[in-house]
Amino acid sequence: MPGDLVHAFALQRFSPLRFDPDHVIPEAHVDALLEAARRTPSAGNSQPWSFVVGRRGDDVHTRLVRHLARSSGAWAPAASLLVANLTQRHVEGTDLEYSEFAHYDLGQAVAHLTFQAHHLGLAVHQFRAFDRDALAAEFAVPAHWEVTSMAALGLPLGDPHAHQGAGTSRERRTRDAITWARVGRTQAG
Ligand SMILES: Cc1cc2nc3c(=O)[nH]c(=O)nc-3n(C[C@H](O)[C@H](O)[C@H](O)COP(=O)(O)O)c2cc1C
Repeated sequence: MPGDLVHAFALQRFSPLRFDPDHVIPEAHVDALLEAARRTPSAGNSQPWSFVVGRRGDDVHTRLVRHLARSSGAWAPAASLLVANLTQRHVEGTDLEYSEFAHYDLGQAVAHLTFQAHHLGLAVHQFRAFDRDALAAEFAVPAHWEVTSMAALGLPLGDPHAHQGAGTSRERRTRDAITWARVGRTQAG
């Protein structure tokens, strides 16, 4: 595949396990990240997302760091920004699903935020390694919302191949393997 057909974001993006602990993210960059997330498409324009945003050194950051797992606690606090990604799962006060696509839409919003981070020269490492219930309690997240994932953003140190964590891999399935049906390339159906 000729590299010039694929956007540099797709070719260069990786999830760093080391961040520059001296990099300070400007407030305007935080606004730009949230702006990109805000503009993400969602099912029925339901926008089932919200974000807890802590810049390294501020009070929200300190409260987020408290609930990291041992694994993410080793690298995420050095990132310039920590974000907890929230999904609206239910209609408030009911067991009704808010949107069939809530998780899908949150994931897309984080993808757009990640693309925006790349534009600002930053990298993003999404992760699940935190105490979901404790973090929800810390920020008074109501029962119809879920703290789904977190992301650490900042200036990456090192290259994509130098820093792989336990249980993580950068191996990818081939294009053919992820193509269920396509004329001339059919895998199934
Ligand atoms: C929803 C989600 C949860 C993840 N959880 C963790 C995690 O808990 N710890 C971690 O080190 N990486 C985590 N990752 C990062 C993946 O391991 C990483 O994206 C994958 O190994 C591919 O590597 P790359 O992003 O560098 O291409 C997570 C990624 C996603 C999207």
